[in-house]
Amino acid sequence: MCGIVGVVGKSARDIILNGLTNLEYRGYDSAGIYLNDLEGNEYLTKAVGRISNLKDKLTPDEQGLVGIGHTRWATHGQPTVDNAHPHFDETKRFYLVHNGVIENYLELKEKYLQGVKFHSDTDTEVVVQLISKIARDKNLDGFSAFKEALKLVKGSYAFLLIDNTKPDHVYIAKNKSPMMLGLGDGFNIIASDAISVLDQTKTFVDLQDGDVGDITKDSFIIENFDGEKQEREPHVLNIDPNAASKGTYEFYMLKEIDEQPGVMRHLSQDYLDDAGHPVVDKNIVDAMSKADRLYIFAAGTSYHAGLVGKDLFETLTGIPTEVGYASEAGYHFPMMSKNPFFIFLSQSGETADSRVVLKEANKRGIPSLTMTNVEGSTLSREASYTMLLKAGPEIAVASTKAYTAQVALQAILAKAIGENLANPNAKNFALKEELALAAEGIQQIVDGKEKIKKLADEYLIHSRNAFYIGRGIDHAVALEGALKLKEVSYIQTEGFAAAELKHGTISLIEEGTPVIALISDPITADLTRGNIQEVASRGASVITIAAKKLAKYGDTLVLPNIDYLLSPLLTVVPTQLLAYYASKDKGLDVDKPRNLAKSVTVE
Ligand code: F6R
Repeated sequence: MCGIVGVVGKSARDIILNGLTNLEYRGYDSAGIYLNDLEGNEYLTKAVGRISNLKDKLTPDEQGLVGIGHTRWATHGQPTVDNAHPHFDETKRFYLVHNGVIENYLELKEKYLQGVKFHSDTDTEVVVQLISKIARDKNLDGFSAFKEALKLVKGSYAFLLIDNTKPDHVYIAKNKSPMMLGLGDGFNIIASDAISVLDQTKTFVDLQDGDVGDITKDSFIIENFDGEKQEREPHVLNIDPNAASKGTYEFYMLKEIDEQPGVMRHLSQDYLDDAGHPVVDKNIVDAMSKADRLYIFAAGTSYHAGLVGKDLFETLTGIPTEVGYASEAGYHFPMMSKNPFFIFLSQSGETADSRVVLKEANKRGIPSLTMTNVEGSTLSREASYTMLLKAGPEIAVASTKAYTAQVALQAILAKAIGENLANPNAKNFALKEELALAAEGIQQIVDGKEKIKKLADEYLIHSRNAFYIGRGIDHAVALEGALKLKEVSYIQTEGFAAAELKHGTISLIEEGTPVIALISDPITADLTRGNIQEVASRGASVITIAAKKLAKYGDTLVLPNIDYLLSPLLTVVPTQLLAYYASKDKGLDVDKPRNLAKSVTVE
């Protein structure tokens, strides 16, 4: 993964540090910065850990009018200072930061760089040494050597390169990894995403795979590898920079949980008309209405939202729907029906695993839609159609509001197709009213968060493990609740179909093991209560989260009523809050759990 920022033409240090801090969601195991003051002084500083460690290491005189910086999520080589970017060549002429993975780095090293002295174990260093070698051997300027090297490099990358013999230029290249060029007055800026540098400019150029660029303070040239000029039109991004700020919250995760009622209202306003009919691009509705099978691909939390989507699409459209892990489908492509349609769910729109499936779908001519929170993201650009989640920037690594937005938007889309196909379930589904109930219901749950904090403190923070159980749609939410709790609190948590426990896993239940049961499915509510008895009688500490209409005396949390198909919009919220408080009250960094990154751009 990793995040990169480059600046040319303006006091670069603080802009880069600030941008990298905003990009920490892309990885945060080490960081580094190269600065050049254009008066013959250059500075390279690296630190293990967060950007704050890098800031602490920098002395006040380390400044520059040009610079590149990097926050790393280790792929090749341990998170050490030597392995942190920027990397440099033997002669210390070139400095390079990189987001991505170079697949043929060993081959390049062996073939072209025998005898070269390396200072790191990274794939990136091979590229910077290669550029330097080509420049020396062929007597080329830095940009030409860079382009020559790129012809040999296989893999994913967003590169920023500085040649200190011509330090008022930053050279860039992009393939598969995200990169935006921001245009300023007398300066230019390059970053992994636009939000990280939104305090500097709102005018951006979307870079495409295969782009190579030469950026100075007042010009930019974009070419392909063969040196042919590429026209790239700047556009103004309409995002409120405050949307990405924490405000009075200690952690983004709670802010984003609390924002969910607003997200429901926005989606309803933007995608439903006054009569409650979906307002969805007719081309999408027509293309999906022709499908004989829908295939949803995603990863992690988005995959869990897809499991809910299956019920929504099948019930409201009558079209059979399959859900798959993108990471599996990419290399074991599922058997296709005659007229398939693919849906990609991705908060970031950058998940590499999903991109592999989309590429294959494009090759086979299968129409596709990406539902994403990030306008202009790779999955959005490469799919046939896009629908935006409009949840606002999600900064916490653990996804919350993007999940509820994905569920709600799938409901809107399913109703649109169902109405087009004259499906009575779609016609009778009072989605506008239900989304209003969802917004009110989520508000009620977040207003009662103190009770949920107490549950986390009493049952979870001293536990090594925990279970979520549920049936039907509750099973899908159990998987998401378990992922959320384990990823931020490090309590090993499994989500189970309630009845499956007794087929083996129940042997893990001990005195005091927390089991959180979700009860929103009217068909199986009583059966789930039977499964609760089975674990309670073996010593489990049971928390029940039940919809009001199914609640019984003694249930721990009772949630407002909502249509079963949309019940995840409510049941997921206490699971998010339990995870949040379990992590916070254990003293962990809620927004940045160890080993993780928000945007997973490696396969
Ligand atoms: C968990 C989480 C991840 C993401 C997954 C897919 O809280 O956020 O599981 O859901 O990495 O990411 P996107 O949705 O960006 O494709």
